[in-house]
Amino acid sequence: MDLGIAGRSCVVTGAGRGIGRETSRLLCEAGAQVLLVARTEDELAEAAADCGRAGAVSNGRAAHLALDVGAADAAERIVAEAEERFGSLDVLVNNAGQSKWRDLDDVPDEDWQAAWDLNVMAPMRLMRAAIPAMAERGWGRVVNVSSTAGKRPSAKMGEYSVAKAAELSLSRLYADRWAGSGVLVNAICPGPVKSEMWMEPGGLLDQSVELHGHPGRDEGLEAAGSSRPIGRLAEVGEIASVITFLCSERASFVLGAAWSVDGGTVQVII
Ligand SMILES: NC(=O)c1ccc[n+]([C@@H]2O[C@H](COP(=O)([O-])OP(=O)(O)OC[C@H]3O[C@@H](n4cnc5c(N)ncnc54)[C@H](OP(=O)(O)O)[C@@H]3O)[C@@H](O)[C@H]2O)c1
Repeated sequence: MDLGIAGRSCVVTGAGRGIGRETSRLLCEAGAQVLLVARTEDELAEAAADCGRAGAVSNGRAAHLALDVGAADAAERIVAEAEERFGSLDVLVNNAGQSKWRDLDDVPDEDWQAAWDLNVMAPMRLMRAAIPAMAERGWGRVVNVSSTAGKRPSAKMGEYSVAKAAELSLSRLYADRWAGSGVLVNAICPGPVKSEMWMEPGGLLDQSVELHGHPGRDEGLEAAGSSRPIGRLAEVGEIASVITFLCSERASFVLGAAWSVDGGTVQVII
């Protein structure tokens, strides 16, 4: 299927690894120009080089910008960099995120605030900075990466769940605000994904093994997967391909959605 996004210019936050990196790679492969954003310079440089290779045939291009999306001036800097490099900004993927397992009573105030800043303020500032110019040109796509935890709070991810629920509300608010302008704002709600967030040493898998007393990582993974209707965690590409579709011309009638990509985890039909 031709996604119809060759030559479009995109920003993907949280693009150094995991879902954001694979999304950037797929966008480049489809011929788009992508600015990859995260904090760790060397990871980003490597990810951008990988994306450049993926775009070799389709004329996809990649560049990177290392910064904390939570900084007050991040949105202006990101939009300015994309416009300088690519001439415009057509597609925004708000994907940067992090999470931790622990008891609700153990979450300090500063972590509640940090979750709000990362999942609500950062995407809000980016949408506010990027969408008006998209609307002026009559075409744009925004995908906000929330979580199943935004639809049904995870008991051991309190501040993350509440912030991801707020991100869904924010996404719908912006979808309504710009409906009819050609700019389509949507969210996705992934279930657990075998990105670095879960799989890196000390990540969610190791934390869950410790919290639930599983004998080892294999058992922890089995337990996390078997509690889902589909029976397993997602691969990064299974999430990235849905994001890429929502960024594309082909998703031209999808607006204000909160698409579950969760192997049936949140068991509602709407
Ligand atoms: N993995 C899952 O099970 C799962 C499930 C549902 C939803 N999600 C959501 O999916 C998104 C991507 O997650 P992932 O699994 O791909 O995570 P990941 O593998 O840990 O990657 C997260 C990316 O976000 C970047 N990042 C984190 N904080 C940032 C900040 N303040 N400023 C700029 N970049 C930042 C990280 O790079 P730096 O650390 O270098 O900045 C990294 O590139 C997140 O929003 C997450 O909440 C994940």
